[in-house]
Amino acid sequence: MKYLVVVCALVAASQCKVLPERVSNLLCSRNDPDYNACTRKAFEKSIPVLAKGIPEINLPPFDPLELPFMSVDRTINELVSIKAVMKNIKVLGATNIVIEDTKANPHNYTAEMRITLPWTHLDMDYDVVGQLLIIPLRSKGFFSGNFTNTQIYAKGNLKLVDKNGVKYFQVDKYNMKIRVGDGEIKLIADNPDLQFGADLIANFYNENPRRVMDAVNPIFVETATDLYRVILNQVLATIPAKELLPE
Ligand SMILES: *[C@@H]1O[C@H](CO)[C@@H](O)[C@H](O)[C@H]1NC(C)=O
Ligand SMILES: *[C@@H]1O[C@H](CO)[C@@H](O)[C@H](O)[C@H]1NC(C)=O
Repeated sequence: MKYLVVVCALVAASQCKVLPERVSNLLCSRNDPDYNACTRKAFEKSIPVLAKGIPEINLPPFDPLELPFMSVDRTINELVSIKAVMKNIKVLGATNIVIEDTKANPHNYTAEMRITLPWTHLDMDYDVVGQLLIIPLRSKGFFSGNFTNTQIYAKGNLKLVDKNGVKYFQVDKYNMKIRVGDGEIKLIADNPDLQFGADLIANFYNENPRRVMDAVNPIFVETATDLYRVILNQVLATIPAKELLPE
């Protein structure tokens, strides 16, 4: 990175672009008379590109989205607490994203969007202890689930930071709301003797998906928000601001 900065100081700016052309071609000029409409169109066109990931800027593929490891340790109240380690997480279906609304302001770097995922499939290895309403959680095994009509609202703004004389964006404020419409899950315990406990959890969820999802929503939203903040910052740290928001 340092090497790149030095080289960029010596040669014409056009020769040291970080973004590959298949991405930079999609970006909107900050002076676009209808920046909102332009970003929306750009977002729609970029879905197939984003789905494959953009290794040049540390963006992992998002369909399937694969995460080797994640952990959660959170108590909401005496009825809902989850301590879980998840491995080999795989989420399918994001390519079918429906963009409901987007707003972006190139002058104060604010953006918001509302999207729907008609269906997603999640599978992972899990190890969980805790409490889920009337069901005690203690299970280890393989989780798979199908979820429909997930609505996501994300809103945030960026700030400029200076690195070796080059300006980059960084996430300033970032909030998400997520509502999963419906779902059906299956749990396969590692130890077949403990399948009964796994079935108890899965059946409880499958009979009350709305109630369970509302109860765990704060944990789910916090986890997703942290994850996307990390991914966003990781990407933003690779692209000089003037390349991301060209004149
Ligand atoms: C950014 O600008 C837009 C449009 O002028 C405005 O609606 C919004 O409130 C501003 N946001 C912030 C955080 O200043
Ligand atoms: C999810 O959907 C797939 C395809 O329809 C199906 O094969 C699978 O059994 C479903 N899984 C669950 C947990 O419902």
